[in-house]
Amino acid sequence: MENNINTRFTSAFEEDVYNGLTSYPKHLSSKYFYDKKGDKLFQDIMNLPEYYLTNCEYNILATNTQKIAEAFAGPNGFDLIELGAGDGKKTKLLLRYLIDKKINFDYLPVDISQNALDELEGSLKKELPTVSVKTQQGTYLKTLERLSDYNSRKKVILVLGSNIGNLLHEDAIDFLKKIQDAMSPDDMLFMGFDQKKNPQTILDAYNDPTGVTEAFNKNVLERINNELDGNFDLNSFFHWETYNPETGTAKSFLISREKQAVTINNLDLTVNFEAWESIHTEISQKYDDMIVEWLASQADLKVTDSFTDEKDFYKNYIFRKK
Ligand SMILES: C[S@@+](CC[C@H](N)C(=O)[O-])C[C@H]1O[C@@H](n2cnc3c(N)ncnc32)[C@H](O)[C@@H]1O
Repeated sequence: MENNINTRFTSAFEEDVYNGLTSYPKHLSSKYFYDKKGDKLFQDIMNLPEYYLTNCEYNILATNTQKIAEAFAGPNGFDLIELGAGDGKKTKLLLRYLIDKKINFDYLPVDISQNALDELEGSLKKELPTVSVKTQQGTYLKTLERLSDYNSRKKVILVLGSNIGNLLHEDAIDFLKKIQDAMSPDDMLFMGFDQKKNPQTILDAYNDPTGVTEAFNKNVLERINNELDGNFDLNSFFHWETYNPETGTAKSFLISREKQAVTINNLDLTVNFEAWESIHTEISQKYDDMIVEWLASQADLKVTDSFTDEKDFYKNYIFRKK
């Protein structure tokens, strides 16, 4: 039965949508928010006053550019591999410094969104034409399988935007272990982790009054409509955010306002929703030093340095192999 289902899918998107919407409770992965429209909506989110994460990390990188860039540099240069690079706005701070100081490196951004990579490459050509860029489209996990191919010189693995927060701890440990496996003793991992703080500040970051976050969350339904010939009525769902201060987990949902049936023709599937039934779409995990150190130790990594903003809202950590 399982095999019959698998053979009829033509993409991971189809398979994940099928599995997520036939599960109880229903879920869809946040990695499917990102296409041309989703990338633009995420840039709008980064400009929202409530979405403190981007400014905090930008300030950390701007204040500590020299120290971070010096930690990156290796005797034969280095490969800078960024997982989930997005528009690279913050990374460009580091790239500019590295270029100015004539430090030898190649920049290898990875993203699931080809559109994000095309735009990043285009903007780098204009703003920093001497950076050597090689983009790779794909998921983190697929890319990590190929990461150990880069071992002719030092590797720096960069994960900004608290991207790791989209993973529950068990998956985050698996992700860190895969990175650790691919690392040589001199390599380093530089990763951003959004910190626990006043729960209201966190809820506000994912609940803006202008509706940008809601449109971003609903983009996964729009993609199902456009790419899988679905008929979701976007107005009959609304965005709902929760934050559990005990676990540090913020969760985004889409809630059906009414009992309804949705058809997805490419999957030959009708999905029934009860009134107020949810689709879980995103996790945005929050951390403190103790949790980060625990995650690192579970993956045989150690924290060797960290940088924070003036409110301690956000932290970037340097990890090395134990
Ligand atoms: C929250 S945004 C952050 C972007 C950037 N790191 C920043 O800090 O501005 C997440 C980015 O990771 C990409 N992404 C999400 N899930 C992914 C996955 N599983 N594999 C590869 N890229 C992914 C998205 O396309 C998006 O560009």
